[in-house]
Amino acid sequence: MNLKDCHNVEDFRKLAKKKLPGPIFHYIDGGSDDETTLRRNTESFNSCDLIPNVLSDVSNINLSTTVLGQKIDFPLFLAATAMHRLYYHEGEKATAKAAEKMGTMFGTSTMATTSIEEIGKLTNGPKLFQLYIHKDKGLTDNLIERCKKSNFNSMCLTVDTVVAGNRERDHRTGFSTPPRLTLGSLLSFILHPQWSLNYLLRGKFELANIIHMTDKGSKIDKSVMDYINEQFDPSMSWKDAEYCVKKWNGPFALKGVMSVEDAKKAIDIGCTAIMVSNHGGRQLDGSRAPFDQLADIVDAVGDKIEVILDGGIRRGTHVLKALAVGAKACSFGKGYLFALGAAGQKGVESILQKMKSEIERDMILMGCKSVKDLNRSKIIFR
Ligand code: LAC
Repeated sequence: MNLKDCHNVEDFRKLAKKKLPGPIFHYIDGGSDDETTLRRNTESFNSCDLIPNVLSDVSNINLSTTVLGQKIDFPLFLAATAMHRLYYHEGEKATAKAAEKMGTMFGTSTMATTSIEEIGKLTNGPKLFQLYIHKDKGLTDNLIERCKKSNFNSMCLTVDTVVAGNRERDHRTGFSTPPRLTLGSLLSFILHPQWSLNYLLRGKFELANIIHMTDKGSKIDKSVMDYINEQFDPSMSWKDAEYCVKKWNGPFALKGVMSVEDAKKAIDIGCTAIMVSNHGGRQLDGSRAPFDQLADIVDAVGDKIEVILDGGIRRGTHVLKALAVGAKACSFGKGYLFALGAAGQKGVESILQKMKSEIERDMILMGCKSVKDLNRSKIIFR
């Protein structure tokens, strides 16, 4: 199996499983506890059906939308995810270039392995920075200032990760960053020589945005769960979020909002957008799927704040369903990380091209000329 055999996210998942050492693949693929929420995130899209209109002259259609102040060519962008260097030796550079080439937004994480400055120099495409508030409070101002200098367009604050979810796959595989050679994982690294050689011989692993700020910045050498529990600030409150919104003074999203009550508070503190998300099923298992919760949130706040759907997206029709309910755009994480692990920049470009083609074809089949034509009349819940 190789790149040309990959036609969808699931194919890329299979190729990533083949290419990556087990602990790394399972870190991307896994969720928390029993992974009920992880599964439901995608299954939830099957609780409704699309209703097409025919004879609509769909010879010219427009997939573009504007989200967080940025025009993107189609309504799906790359959610910020951590540590791309683990999945492919070019790390975030590969992902950022792919997003720019495909005309969509690239999100990068506080826990990225390429710095804000490098990303700023590398791409003129729309750039979103994802903030985690650390106990070291100085870090927040530092990151925000650096993003301003490096021409990032928007910022999101992840609010669903004050402690780490219980990622049991990581316990079982012994996943740590940087990857540690243990008796258990040794075989997995030997069986993936290409990845292992690239890891050893190409640019070193470091949490490039925070390396200077925390003593643990470059060598976590522990589980991601331990890092989160030691470094992230569980006292984070609405005051802190408001502080970040004001300090950034530009398009700002809260990522991980799931309740109507919190969505309203996001408006009160001046957010541009909320990302309805449960962190890809990696945090609170048993929490509702974003798509299941979307209609209630859109009905309550959809005319006052941009609503972005994040979680479970595997198909173009999933994006169409979210837009029909009222989301402004969607983002995905695992969907492109599998492609990054499978084939680097080419892989990410390929999955974005495939998702874009699916969205385009599905909109034509729906009789929709633009994303605005996707509304509640086009969808029915069973
Ligand atoms: C995770 C964090 C680091 O989900 O975003 O692993």
